[in-house]
Amino acid sequence: MEKRYWWKESVVYQIYPRSFMDSNGDGIGDLNGIISKLDYLQELGIDVVWLSPVYESPNDDNGYDISNYQAIMDEFGTMEDWERLLEEMHNRGIKLIMDLVVNHSSDEHAWFVESRKSKENKYRDYYIWRDGKDGKEPNNWSSFFSGSAWQFDEATEQYFLHLFSKKQPDLNWENPQLRKEVYDMMTWWLEKGIDGFRMDVINMISKEKGLPDAPSVPGEQYSSGHEFFMNGPRIHEFLQEMNKEVLSKYDILTVGETPGVSPEDAVLYTAEDRNEVNTLFQFEHMDLDSGNGKWDVKPLQLADLKWSLSRWQKGLENQGWNSLYWNNHDQPRIVSRFGNDKEYRNKSAKMLGTLLHMMKGTPYIYQGEEIGMTNVKFSDISAYKDIETINMYNEKLEAGVDKDVIMNSIYIKGRDNARTPMQWDDSEHSGFTTGTPWININPNYTEINVKQALEDKDSVFYYYKKLIHTRKSNDIIIYGSYDIWQEDHSQVFAYTRSFKEQTLFVACNFYGDTTTITIPDIFANEQRQILITNDDEEQLNGTKLTLKPYEAKVYLV
Ligand code: NOJ
Repeated sequence: MEKRYWWKESVVYQIYPRSFMDSNGDGIGDLNGIISKLDYLQELGIDVVWLSPVYESPNDDNGYDISNYQAIMDEFGTMEDWERLLEEMHNRGIKLIMDLVVNHSSDEHAWFVESRKSKENKYRDYYIWRDGKDGKEPNNWSSFFSGSAWQFDEATEQYFLHLFSKKQPDLNWENPQLRKEVYDMMTWWLEKGIDGFRMDVINMISKEKGLPDAPSVPGEQYSSGHEFFMNGPRIHEFLQEMNKEVLSKYDILTVGETPGVSPEDAVLYTAEDRNEVNTLFQFEHMDLDSGNGKWDVKPLQLADLKWSLSRWQKGLENQGWNSLYWNNHDQPRIVSRFGNDKEYRNKSAKMLGTLLHMMKGTPYIYQGEEIGMTNVKFSDISAYKDIETINMYNEKLEAGVDKDVIMNSIYIKGRDNARTPMQWDDSEHSGFTTGTPWININPNYTEINVKQALEDKDSVFYYYKKLIHTRKSNDIIIYGSYDIWQEDHSQVFAYTRSFKEQTLFVACNFYGDTTTITIPDIFANEQRQILITNDDEEQLNGTKLTLKPYEAKVYLV
């Protein structure tokens, strides 16, 4: 059996602080607001909170642009509030992991303020500065947030690199002094007693020497350049150094956000004997409904989802460790995405939770997922706050794309789908704030909210609570090996887990009509036990199991 660790046996809950709970009526969620909801999280049964950035920030990208890594954003509270939050979490047996955003800082960080002053400045080399080429940018890389990844700076007549917004200059990890400052900062937080880090786009910190042009894309001014900075040449060296200098000294959970990794890459990052990080967020299953261009949409094919999740389950077996997630602050809401947020909202939200939580890896729940919150449609772009969404809208509009087409892709893929405030009750502003919320509430808060969920025994909330509890009471869910079952079934995602003498069988109907599946022989005998299901009726005839729309069944023998 694989080695046991607390972070393999935990369920993590992600809080996006701006939208979680406002305690002072300014319309913005804050730390005291989170403290007031810790009993709720305890009731759900989660073990760890991942807190999205709460550091000082001008909020160009809602806190992912940090101007001081060792101070709390005024809007969120004070360092004393944060210390109280940690204490209150620990009192309840909840651990806290903080967001580590060190691929870039804010342009308002003291390092960058210095760096841009002159070429001789002591901090110049903390960032990535280059001369232009033929009167243009140093290379053709594009920013994730539209346009070039380079910004010209008048003061020294050079460009600096920013893979995200121009207020998020990339840090230069080639500089050992910069690396040491980052490690010291991490140690400072760990000494305060935190339980780990979620590491923002950590596989982008090592850039290819010479920052070469990417092959050009027909019809596009810029190219992504991903091959020159995702999983770059020194990435494993940097992470091993970070591990040696900092991480190895603490018993913590580290999860790296790593777009563009394969299961083989993931083993390199997470294998225990490599001393890098515990686990990763990969994106393959989140890209299955994407077309070619940015936020171009295509319907999910169930076969693709089976292929992808299965190859991650098998690829990391006994070698690394998966993270399991459907949602975060960058992704649309899963019940609207792979489920049915109308007639079958309750049923499909539970089915999706079942599929994920019965797999091997550490599960993550994003705020609101546990009550089946949905995507939102604001009719006008002015209601949207996300920089990526707004830049994309403007870029596409300029390129002549029809406004309705752009809005439609924002409805399906936009990041603000996940960022509307938490729906606590059916009072004005959903109980999130007494003031004016920083972003509109999803109008369906009158029906979908925590108060309602806590009053309804059949709610998504209680089902998630049971999923968490079921995982904790059954080692097979944590450590059992995975095998896909009847891969060719067009409507059901089914798999088995095996551990010691036990076998688990999971079957999830992904569609709105009834279907049947043949289950493994051993589950046809009397000994089988239903571990969890979103439909109490059982229609089993020999080995033929009938599943109603979005039904999920989990059996143990
Ligand atoms: C990934 C984060 O999850 C996202 O919200 C952010 O915009 C980028 N990294 C840049 O920090």
